[in-house]
Amino acid sequence: MTDASARLDPHYEIADIDRRLFGGFVEHLGRHIYDGIFEPGHPSADDEGFRTDVIDLVKELGVSTIRYPGGNFVSGYRWEDGIGPKSERPRRLDLAWHSTETNEVGLHEFQAWLDRVGSDLMLAVNLGTRGTQEALDLLEYANAEAQTAWTDRRAANGRETPFGVKMWCLGNEMDGPWQLGHRNADDYGKLASQTAKGMRMLDPAVELVVCGSSARAMPTFGSWERTVLEHTFDDVDFISCHSYYQEHDGDAQEFLASGVDMAKFIEAVVAIADAVAATKKSEKRIMISFDEWNIWYLHDDEGGQNDKPEEKGWPVAPRLLEDHYSALDAVVGDLMITLLQHADRVRSASLAQLVNVIAPIMTEPGGPAWRQTTFFPFSITSRLAQGRALRVPVASSTFASEKLGEVATLNAVATIDDDGVSLFVVNRSTTDAATLRVDLAPLVRDLGREVDVVESHLLHEDDVYAANTLDDPERVGVRGAEASVDGESLSITLPAVSWAAVRLA
Ligand code: AHR
Repeated sequence: MTDASARLDPHYEIADIDRRLFGGFVEHLGRHIYDGIFEPGHPSADDEGFRTDVIDLVKELGVSTIRYPGGNFVSGYRWEDGIGPKSERPRRLDLAWHSTETNEVGLHEFQAWLDRVGSDLMLAVNLGTRGTQEALDLLEYANAEAQTAWTDRRAANGRETPFGVKMWCLGNEMDGPWQLGHRNADDYGKLASQTAKGMRMLDPAVELVVCGSSARAMPTFGSWERTVLEHTFDDVDFISCHSYYQEHDGDAQEFLASGVDMAKFIEAVVAIADAVAATKKSEKRIMISFDEWNIWYLHDDEGGQNDKPEEKGWPVAPRLLEDHYSALDAVVGDLMITLLQHADRVRSASLAQLVNVIAPIMTEPGGPAWRQTTFFPFSITSRLAQGRALRVPVASSTFASEKLGEVATLNAVATIDDDGVSLFVVNRSTTDAATLRVDLAPLVRDLGREVDVVESHLLHEDDVYAANTLDDPERVGVRGAEASVDGESLSITLPAVSWAAVRLA
């Protein structure tokens, strides 16, 4: 058992938390839409074919905005294929995932599903095989109020009132050679700027996200952001970051340092965006939309971008990217701590993805839906992290990471709102449990009264590779943490490889 200490001070404010930090991502990929959220024959399906058991889990997860319809898929997508009578919608080849897209679900159906789960839509436009005009057509169809050919068509398809979509992504991962329509930073920057200008002329209220790098490890990382922002700085509000983590070669300790990698990614992009601002003598601050983050086991032979069933033809809704997450993966709830620690600049983020595809929720056709281990830190953080984010300096031991140098064993962040304070903490050590003592004196002084633990959660399994499966869907869950307040000190016990949340009021 090691000892660590921290301080919880309401003056250590980072920023108000934008609820869009707790966003998700739904792509037309594998069994995400079809046999995931949409399965008309399922016993729990509603009148539109949506699985209500999945809707209940998505609500419990607490996702704010949901990015749609891709991902790599969007770079070859014709959004018009997904509107109008279903019987007239074309079947198309989806080159990104080597599948057949039936287009049974499109913009209207997805919005109807979002209304059921209570989340907001964030749309991506195709800047891969298409361009500015098609993006403007979609925006006019979705958001315009005036009577036009596009809005007449929207009304004929059952929707008089605009969808009113606020956030728009200008393409997806345009830096990636795997992307349909992949461009260099100059070409993409010019196209994104031109498209953004047109979109703002049509609807000045939109918030626009330009593509940043699809990973910090991309060879063009840094120069891509700089060049793209030189072209688009005045036209956009956000630049995206994407990052997936995984345990390599059984090295759990290195994997548990992933939050530090994410922090370095965010801080580098902020530095580049602010450097571009400086060259333009601008006070404007570009925010980050971390609109793809998760654990993803990208095996060269069976997963990831290579996970396309070429040998099986062009299947509809094949099983792709169906990673099963362990308790170890869930401890990377540390990634949410990291996002909150950067709440001043990360104003939007999307867990990628939501159902079946590298997802916190799994389903079986005709069968049950269940929570993966990664469901728990997300749902608890989304519910408890309200108000403002607070920096929590922790004095703990460190370990040596091969890629990232000395890494703190414990990492924490807090949030404060009118009803109380929430603390989120992770123990990244694979060997040592820790007792964390948190000095609450500044908080007690500020509130003028003492606080106590009203809720606590611990995610830890002695077998760190334990997972929830179809056969054993509740193998891993959360239990109460060993957390107590004595006067002005909070004490929490954190087993090796654990994540905890404590609510004080
Ligand atoms: O989330 C899976 C894929 O990862 C997305 O389609 C793409 O944007 C990223 O490379």
